[in-house]
Amino acid sequence: MSITTDIERLKKEKDAVILAHYYVDEDVQAIADYIGDSFYLSKVATKVKKKTIVFAGVEFMGESAKILNPDKRVFMPDINADCPMAHMATKEEILNMREKYPDLAVVCYINSTAELKKYSDVCVTSSNAVKIVKNLPNKNIFFIPDRNLGHFVAKQCPDKNFIFNNGCCPRHVAITEDLVIKAKELHPNAKFAAHPECTEDVLKYADYIGSTSGIIDYVVNTDAEEFIIGTVDGVFAEIRKNAPEKKLYTLKDEQICVNMKKVTLEKILDVLENETNEIFVDKELAEYAMKPLNKMLELAK
Ligand code: 13P
Ligand code: SF4
Repeated sequence: MSITTDIERLKKEKDAVILAHYYVDEDVQAIADYIGDSFYLSKVATKVKKKTIVFAGVEFMGESAKILNPDKRVFMPDINADCPMAHMATKEEILNMREKYPDLAVVCYINSTAELKKYSDVCVTSSNAVKIVKNLPNKNIFFIPDRNLGHFVAKQCPDKNFIFNNGCCPRHVAITEDLVIKAKELHPNAKFAAHPECTEDVLKYADYIGSTSGIIDYVVNTDAEEFIIGTVDGVFAEIRKNAPEKKLYTLKDEQICVNMKKVTLEKILDVLENETNEIFVDKELAEYAMKPLNKMLELAK
């Protein structure tokens, strides 16, 4: 029997559903019940009826699914698949900033720990951050942890005063301006689509800036043949399903997220079979962290 047959059987036996982010490997995406960007997956997590969620992604994704669904069991195929940026801010920085600016709104990218969410006012993802920040009544915005997404949002909210934090995604900041210039020289007819976790120096060349699903939609629906992709190459799988004729280029070798790559079919089978790597979030912490997540779901409607 193949590994996918075993996974399908165990999914039924355990009343489980598999959610996968676009950055995991193509074979993992292929067995998922739902694939998407982080906003889509957080919405799906609140709607699925199954008792068990296996989250093929990184820790903050599984943790957010558990916080939003305290009565469901949530499992991570690899417990060490963690997003380094999720830890790149501190509770102390938030509390200090609140003292300085009494009307402060702490806007927390969903790529963050439950502890950071607890001290924040609202969560955002790359696909809803601009909309949510524009609609906040506060003038002063402390944007954590990603400085690059923060700058991208700030540009589109000129009435707000942004305070930036110094976090970033190691994978997206490795895409440099020089690499973009070289790729554009090599592929002069290609459109350039980039994720807002890239630096401003890179985003200034982009024909489109958006979340992983935004980039996929842009490439699939834009009348051009060639695209340079400024994000992790996991998005190629979904683009190829919908537009196999499009030519896709990365900017560098190994344009991958090492943590998302840790998720494999073997590990999914193992957690389904042995019920290992279950996510638990302290009840009180989860109650606090749920508030900014629910506020995001409400404000993004
Ligand atoms: P998306 O919300 O665009 O899927 O991004 C998640 C992420 O981790 C990007 O690096
Ligand atoms: Fe985190 Fe970057 Fe990986 Fe996204 S690509 S999960 S931000 S390390």
